[in-house]
Amino acid sequence: MNSIKIAPSVLSCDFARMGEEIEDVVRAGADLVHFDIMDGQFVPNITFGPPVLAKLRSRCGAPMDVHLMIVDPERYVDDFASAGADIITFQVEACRHPHRLLNHIRDLGCRAGVSLNPGTPEEQIRYLAPSLDMVLVMTVNPGFGGQAFIPEMLEKIRRIREMLGPDRDLEVDGGIDGKTARQVIEAGANVLVAGSYVFGKTDRAEAIWTLRAAKP
Ligand code: DX5
Ligand code: ZN
Repeated sequence: MNSIKIAPSVLSCDFARMGEEIEDVVRAGADLVHFDIMDGQFVPNITFGPPVLAKLRSRCGAPMDVHLMIVDPERYVDDFASAGADIITFQVEACRHPHRLLNHIRDLGCRAGVSLNPGTPEEQIRYLAPSLDMVLVMTVNPGFGGQAFIPEMLEKIRRIREMLGPDRDLEVDGGIDGKTARQVIEAGANVLVAGSYVFGKTDRAEAIWTLRAAKP
């Protein structure tokens, strides 16, 4: 079974001090740093793109976990890989040929993942499984930080863990706190994204430790 990894989402950091905020959470024990890329089309919000990521690369002492919430992600994966992404995950609903794109991301030297919206069934990814390094289960509707965890996603996490076996990464994103961390770990998740829970705390090391220790 994989170890628990904590991935603070910079969506909730102070954007005017992004470099320092990233250094702070890495110092506090983050295993990955999660970057939410939003285009104002797939989701109503807009964040930032490859040039910002490239500038942050040297400040980020942990793997960059890039979550694309954009339409036609195949148009941008090369740019995100060049900018320094270590893991690239795209929304399966936003891509016509997810199998091809997963293999292309791996050819670029990155780890490849797909993400499922809350309404998307796990069957959508059954035949992609051999090409997947990671699956991301959205536990809120994508677009914004600080939303409430959707409890029906626990069943989906269990089913995907069964589908993937014990060794691959299963990430969850949205509404993760001390209580929901325990529930998702129990269901089979091992990579926990947390935005407001980590960046909203003065003591980020304690927040990260609380999530990591939230074993059932
Ligand atoms: C939502 C993003 C998340 C978000 C999570 O679309 O994918 O990464 O930052 O925020 P919290 O942890 O505050 O729910
Ligand atoms: Zn995310």
